[in-house]
Amino acid sequence: MTGPAGTGAAHFDFAGLRVLVTGGTRGIGAAIARAFGAAGAEVLITGSAESADSYEDLPSHARYFQLRLAHREDIAAVAAAAGRLDILVNNAGGTGGAFTPYDFDTAVDVNLNAVFHLTQALGGSLGESRLRGGAAVVNIASEMSLFASPHFFGYGAAKAALVQLTRSFCVSLAPRGIRVNAVLPGSVPTPMTNPFAENPDVHKLVCDATPLARWGEAREIADAVMFLASPAASFISGHTLVVDGGYSITK
Ligand SMILES: NC(=O)c1ccc[n+]([C@@H]2O[C@H](COP(=O)([O-])OP(=O)(O)OC[C@H]3O[C@@H](n4cnc5c(N)ncnc54)[C@H](OP(=O)(O)O)[C@@H]3O)[C@@H](O)[C@H]2O)c1
Repeated sequence: MTGPAGTGAAHFDFAGLRVLVTGGTRGIGAAIARAFGAAGAEVLITGSAESADSYEDLPSHARYFQLRLAHREDIAAVAAAAGRLDILVNNAGGTGGAFTPYDFDTAVDVNLNAVFHLTQALGGSLGESRLRGGAAVVNIASEMSLFASPHFFGYGAAKAALVQLTRSFCVSLAPRGIRVNAVLPGSVPTPMTNPFAENPDVHKLVCDATPLARWGEAREIADAVMFLASPAASFISGHTLVVDGGYSITK
Protein backbone atom coordinates (compact mmCIF):
# COMPACT_ATOMS: atom_id res chain seq x y z
CA MET A 1 0.00 0.00 0.00
CA THR A 2 1.31 3.43 -0.77
CA GLY A 3 0.34 6.28 1.49
CA PRO A 4 -0.70 9.84 1.04
CA ALA A 5 2.01 12.41 0.75
CA GLY A 6 2.96 14.34 3.87
CA THR A 7 -0.19 16.16 4.17
CA GLY A 8 -0.37 19.84 4.79
CA ALA A 9 -4.03 18.91 5.18
CA ALA A 10 -4.48 20.89 8.37
CA HIS A 11 -4.22 24.65 8.14
CA PHE A 12 -2.53 26.51 10.95
CA ASP A 13 -1.92 30.20 11.33
CA PHE A 14 1.20 31.12 13.28
CA ALA A 15 1.55 34.63 11.87
CA GLY A 16 3.33 37.01 14.22
CA LEU A 17 4.76 34.17 16.31
CA ARG A 18 8.38 33.18 16.74
CA VAL A 19 9.44 29.54 16.70
CA LEU A 20 12.81 27.97 17.48
CA VAL A 21 13.37 24.54 15.89
CA THR A 22 16.59 22.86 16.99
CA GLY A 23 18.17 20.71 14.30
CA GLY A 24 16.27 22.51 11.57
CA THR A 25 18.93 21.96 8.95
CA ARG A 26 17.61 18.71 7.51
CA GLY A 27 15.25 15.77 8.01
CA ILE A 28 12.32 16.12 10.38
CA GLY A 29 13.54 19.44 11.81
CA ALA A 30 13.73 21.04 8.37
CA ALA A 31 10.20 19.83 7.61
CA ILE A 32 8.97 21.33 10.89
CA ALA A 33 10.75 24.63 10.19
CA ARG A 34 9.29 24.80 6.67
CA ALA A 35 5.80 24.01 7.93
CA PHE A 36 5.90 26.76 10.55
CA GLY A 37 7.33 29.16 7.97
CA ALA A 38 4.51 28.34 5.57
CA ALA A 39 2.05 29.01 8.40
CA GLY A 40 3.41 32.52 8.80
CA ALA A 41 5.79 32.13 11.76
CA GLU A 42 9.19 33.71 12.11
CA VAL A 43 11.47 30.68 12.28
CA LEU A 44 14.84 30.25 13.98
CA ILE A 45 16.78 27.05 13.39
CA THR A 46 19.93 25.50 14.80
CA GLY A 47 22.56 23.11 13.55
CA SER A 48 26.01 21.92 14.52
CA ALA A 49 28.04 23.91 11.99
CA GLU A 50 29.51 27.33 12.66
CA SER A 51 27.58 29.04 9.90
CA ALA A 52 24.60 28.56 7.62
CA ASP A 53 26.99 28.52 4.65
CA SER A 54 27.85 24.91 5.51
CA TYR A 55 24.38 23.76 4.47
CA GLU A 56 22.57 23.44 1.18
CA ASP A 57 18.86 23.95 0.98
CA LEU A 58 18.10 25.30 4.46
CA PRO A 59 14.47 26.24 5.11
CA SER A 60 14.13 29.63 3.42
CA HIS A 61 13.89 32.75 5.58
CA ALA A 62 14.91 30.84 8.72
CA ARG A 63 17.56 32.50 10.89
CA TYR A 64 20.40 30.17 11.66
CA PHE A 65 22.26 29.68 14.96
CA GLN A 66 25.01 27.24 15.80
CA LEU A 67 23.99 24.96 18.66
CA ARG A 68 26.24 21.99 19.31
CA LEU A 69 24.07 19.98 21.63
CA ALA A 70 26.85 18.76 23.88
CA HIS A 71 28.25 22.30 24.34
CA ARG A 72 26.60 24.13 27.23
CA GLU A 73 28.07 27.45 26.11
CA ASP A 74 26.22 27.13 22.77
CA ILE A 75 22.97 26.48 24.59
CA ALA A 76 23.40 29.60 26.72
CA ALA A 77 24.36 31.69 23.67
CA VAL A 78 21.35 30.57 21.63
CA ALA A 79 18.99 31.14 24.55
CA ALA A 80 20.38 34.67 24.94
CA ALA A 81 20.19 35.44 21.21
CA ALA A 82 16.75 33.96 20.56
CA GLY A 83 14.89 36.79 22.28
CA ARG A 84 11.11 36.68 22.52
CA LEU A 85 9.83 33.18 21.80
CA ASP A 86 6.39 31.56 21.48
CA ILE A 87 7.22 27.98 20.50
CA LEU A 88 10.25 25.78 21.12
CA VAL A 89 10.65 22.52 19.21
CA ASN A 90 13.40 20.38 20.72
CA ASN A 91 13.99 18.28 17.62
CA ALA A 92 17.78 18.02 17.31
CA GLY A 93 19.21 14.70 18.33
CA GLY A 94 20.11 11.36 16.92
CA THR A 95 21.84 8.07 17.30
CA GLY A 96 25.26 9.29 16.21
CA GLY A 97 25.19 7.06 13.13
CA ALA A 98 23.41 3.93 12.07
CA PHE A 99 26.42 1.67 12.43
CA THR A 100 28.62 3.63 14.86
CA PRO A 101 26.26 4.92 17.54
CA TYR A 102 27.30 7.50 20.14
CA ASP A 103 28.80 6.24 23.37
CA PHE A 104 26.30 6.26 26.22
CA ASP A 105 27.31 9.58 27.78
CA THR A 106 27.31 11.46 24.49
CA ALA A 107 23.93 10.03 23.50
CA VAL A 108 22.45 11.23 26.79
CA ASP A 109 24.12 14.63 26.49
CA VAL A 110 22.81 15.16 22.97
CA ASN A 111 19.31 13.70 23.29
CA LEU A 112 18.38 14.56 26.87
CA ASN A 113 20.68 16.97 28.72
CA ALA A 114 20.62 19.53 25.92
CA VAL A 115 16.80 19.55 25.93
CA PHE A 116 16.74 20.10 29.69
CA HIS A 117 19.21 22.99 29.62
CA LEU A 118 17.74 24.74 26.58
CA THR A 119 14.18 24.49 27.88
CA GLN A 120 15.27 25.78 31.30
CA ALA A 121 17.10 28.66 29.68
CA LEU A 122 14.12 29.64 27.51
CA GLY A 123 11.40 29.29 30.15
CA GLY A 124 11.42 33.00 30.96
CA SER A 125 11.14 34.03 27.32
CA LEU A 126 8.35 31.54 26.59
CA GLY A 127 6.52 32.67 29.71
CA GLU A 128 6.05 36.10 28.14
CA SER A 129 4.41 34.72 25.00
CA ARG A 130 0.92 35.86 24.15
CA LEU A 131 0.19 32.78 22.04
CA ARG A 132 -3.47 31.94 22.55
CA GLY A 133 -3.66 28.72 24.57
CA GLY A 134 -0.18 29.30 25.97
CA ALA A 135 3.36 29.11 24.72
CA ALA A 136 4.34 25.63 23.62
CA VAL A 137 7.29 23.30 23.87
CA VAL A 138 7.28 20.17 21.72
CA ASN A 139 9.97 17.56 22.30
CA ILE A 140 10.78 15.03 19.59
CA ALA A 141 11.32 11.69 21.31
CA SER A 142 11.28 8.34 19.51
CA GLU A 143 9.73 4.92 19.28
CA MET A 144 12.87 3.97 21.15
CA SER A 145 11.35 5.76 24.10
CA LEU A 146 9.18 2.64 24.18
CA PHE A 147 11.30 -0.19 22.75
CA ALA A 148 14.69 -1.58 23.67
CA SER A 149 17.50 -1.98 21.17
CA PRO A 150 20.82 -3.68 21.84
CA HIS A 151 22.51 -1.16 19.52
CA PHE A 152 21.31 2.15 20.90
CA PHE A 153 21.62 1.99 24.69
CA GLY A 154 22.20 5.67 25.31
CA TYR A 155 19.77 6.87 22.64
CA GLY A 156 16.97 4.66 23.98
CA ALA A 157 17.59 5.64 27.59
CA ALA A 158 17.72 9.33 26.68
CA LYS A 159 14.57 9.23 24.55
CA ALA A 160 12.66 7.33 27.25
CA ALA A 161 13.78 9.88 29.82
CA LEU A 162 12.73 12.67 27.44
CA VAL A 163 9.13 11.53 27.82
CA GLN A 164 9.44 11.86 31.59
CA LEU A 165 11.24 15.20 31.21
CA THR A 166 8.28 16.36 29.11
CA ARG A 167 5.94 15.50 31.99
CA SER A 168 8.15 17.21 34.56
CA PHE A 169 8.33 20.39 32.46
CA CYS A 170 4.57 20.20 31.93
CA VAL A 171 4.13 20.54 35.67
CA SER A 172 6.89 23.06 36.33
CA LEU A 173 6.11 25.39 33.40
CA ALA A 174 2.31 25.32 33.63
CA PRO A 175 2.22 28.24 36.09
CA ARG A 176 3.91 30.36 33.40
CA GLY A 177 1.26 29.37 30.85
CA ILE A 178 3.58 27.06 28.91
CA ARG A 179 2.36 23.72 27.58
CA VAL A 180 4.89 20.92 27.06
CA ASN A 181 4.27 17.83 24.94
CA ALA A 182 6.22 15.14 23.13
CA VAL A 183 5.91 13.57 19.69
CA LEU A 184 7.20 10.04 19.12
CA PRO A 185 7.86 9.54 15.42
CA GLY A 186 7.85 6.13 13.84
CA SER A 187 10.23 5.36 11.01
CA VAL A 188 10.69 8.36 8.73
CA PRO A 189 13.33 8.48 5.97
CA THR A 190 15.85 11.22 6.77
CA PRO A 191 19.63 11.50 6.60
CA MET A 192 19.68 9.74 10.00
CA THR A 193 17.63 6.74 8.92
CA ASN A 194 18.48 6.53 5.22
CA PRO A 195 20.95 3.67 5.75
CA PHE A 196 17.92 1.68 6.98
CA ALA A 197 15.27 3.15 4.68
CA GLU A 198 17.36 2.40 1.61
CA ASN A 199 17.94 -1.21 2.62
CA PRO A 200 15.07 -3.11 0.93
CA ASP A 201 14.93 -5.76 3.66
CA VAL A 202 14.70 -3.24 6.50
CA HIS A 203 12.30 -1.10 4.52
CA LYS A 204 9.97 -4.06 4.05
CA LEU A 205 10.35 -5.15 7.67
CA VAL A 206 9.03 -1.79 8.84
CA CYS A 207 6.20 -1.80 6.30
CA ASP A 208 5.15 -5.33 7.27
CA ALA A 209 5.06 -4.42 10.98
CA THR A 210 3.11 -1.20 10.46
CA PRO A 211 -0.69 -1.31 10.20
CA LEU A 212 -0.60 1.54 7.68
CA ALA A 213 2.02 -0.52 5.80
CA ARG A 214 4.49 2.25 5.02
CA TRP A 215 7.13 4.58 6.44
CA GLY A 216 6.06 7.99 7.62
CA GLU A 217 6.98 11.31 6.06
CA ALA A 218 8.71 14.17 7.81
CA ARG A 219 5.81 16.47 6.95
CA GLU A 220 3.46 14.16 8.88
CA ILE A 221 5.58 14.65 11.99
CA ALA A 222 5.49 18.41 11.37
CA ASP A 223 1.68 18.33 11.25
CA ALA A 224 1.56 16.68 14.68
CA VAL A 225 4.02 19.22 16.09
CA MET A 226 2.01 22.13 14.71
CA PHE A 227 -1.19 20.75 16.20
CA LEU A 228 0.38 20.43 19.65
CA ALA A 229 1.85 23.94 19.38
CA SER A 230 -1.40 25.50 18.21
CA PRO A 231 -4.33 26.90 20.20
CA ALA A 232 -6.27 23.81 19.01
CA ALA A 233 -4.28 21.92 21.67
CA SER A 234 -4.79 24.53 24.39
CA PHE A 235 -5.84 21.94 27.03
CA ILE A 236 -3.16 19.38 26.12
CA SER A 237 0.03 19.31 28.15
CA GLY A 238 2.30 16.50 29.33
CA HIS A 239 1.03 14.34 26.48
CA THR A 240 2.99 11.90 24.34
CA LEU A 241 1.67 11.71 20.78
CA VAL A 242 2.84 8.64 18.88
CA VAL A 243 2.95 9.23 15.11
CA ASP A 244 3.93 5.85 13.70
CA GLY A 245 1.15 4.44 11.53
CA GLY A 246 0.26 2.03 14.34
CA TYR A 247 3.68 0.33 14.50
CA SER A 248 3.98 0.51 18.28
CA ILE A 249 0.66 -1.28 18.79
CA THR A 250 1.85 -4.37 16.94
CA LYS A 251 5.32 -4.42 18.44
N1 LIG B 1 13.88 9.74 11.34
C1 LIG B 1 13.28 8.91 12.15
O1 LIG B 1 12.80 7.84 11.76
C2 LIG B 1 13.14 9.26 13.61
C3 LIG B 1 12.39 8.38 14.41
C4 LIG B 1 12.23 8.67 15.75
C5 LIG B 1 12.77 9.84 16.28
N2 LIG B 1 13.51 10.67 15.47
C6 LIG B 1 14.04 11.88 16.10
O2 LIG B 1 13.70 12.99 15.30
C7 LIG B 1 14.70 14.00 15.43
C8 LIG B 1 15.19 14.40 14.05
O3 LIG B 1 15.73 13.24 13.44
P1 LIG B 1 16.07 13.16 11.89
O4 LIG B 1 15.76 11.78 11.48
O5 LIG B 1 15.48 14.31 11.16
O6 LIG B 1 17.65 13.30 11.97
P2 LIG B 1 18.73 14.01 10.99
O7 LIG B 1 18.25 14.01 9.61
O8 LIG B 1 20.01 13.34 11.31
O9 LIG B 1 18.76 15.52 11.52
C9 LIG B 1 19.24 15.77 12.81
C10 LIG B 1 19.26 17.26 13.09
O10 LIG B 1 19.76 17.44 14.42
C11 LIG B 1 21.00 18.15 14.38
N3 LIG B 1 21.94 17.51 15.29
C12 LIG B 1 22.18 16.18 15.45
N4 LIG B 1 23.15 15.98 16.34
C13 LIG B 1 23.58 17.21 16.73
C14 LIG B 1 24.57 17.68 17.62
N5 LIG B 1 25.34 16.83 18.33
N6 LIG B 1 24.71 19.01 17.79
C15 LIG B 1 23.93 19.87 17.11
N7 LIG B 1 22.98 19.51 16.24
C16 LIG B 1 22.81 18.19 16.06
C17 LIG B 1 21.50 18.04 12.95
O11 LIG B 1 22.31 19.18 12.68
P3 LIG B 1 23.49 19.12 11.54
O12 LIG B 1 22.78 19.09 10.23
O13 LIG B 1 24.29 20.34 11.75
O14 LIG B 1 24.25 17.87 11.84
C18 LIG B 1 20.19 18.03 12.16
O15 LIG B 1 19.71 19.33 12.01
C19 LIG B 1 15.79 13.40 16.32
O16 LIG B 1 15.61 13.83 17.64
C20 LIG B 1 15.56 11.91 16.20
O17 LIG B 1 16.02 11.22 17.33
C21 LIG B 1 13.70 10.41 14.17
